[in-house]
Amino acid sequence: MFKTDYELLLLQARALTEDVPHPVANLANLAALLYTTLEGINWAGFYLAEGDTLVLGPFQGNPACVAIPCGKGVCGTAAVQNETQLVPDVHLFPGHIACDSASRSEIVVPLRRGGKVVGVLDIDSPLPARFTEDDRAGLERFAALAERVL
Ligand code: SME
Repeated sequence: MFKTDYELLLLQARALTEDVPHPVANLANLAALLYTTLEGINWAGFYLAEGDTLVLGPFQGNPACVAIPCGKGVCGTAAVQNETQLVPDVHLFPGHIACDSASRSEIVVPLRRGGKVVGVLDIDSPLPARFTEDDRAGLERFAALAERVL
């Protein structure tokens, strides 16, 4: 459907965050980079873990749910399972949290520090099955970069 140049995206992400010791600024720029680069998406951003809750972090798109309990929704499932969730049809995902009723597919990648989940990267699309295995691989590399700058 869409083919993202993840090598270029990662170079841009590195250039934007290099030597910037400000986690909020870095995540804000990374969310903006994803939102303006990836085609066919309507939301890109971060939730950060506070105890057993994921709290809304820097993002681009419509205003979104502020707090997601770990274990709930696609984000909370990714956090608890410590594993990327690639959801081709959010209507078929039990417990999906619809922040934007236009969203049809979603990918959520955990952010880790010392093996422990400290947040998630969440991207929504209004198109069914927007995200591919190529996106999973590219976004897992992107999340690994985000972990180092937050
Ligand atoms: N759909 C997510 C909630 C966050 S919004 O998509 C921005 C979920 O089910 O966890």
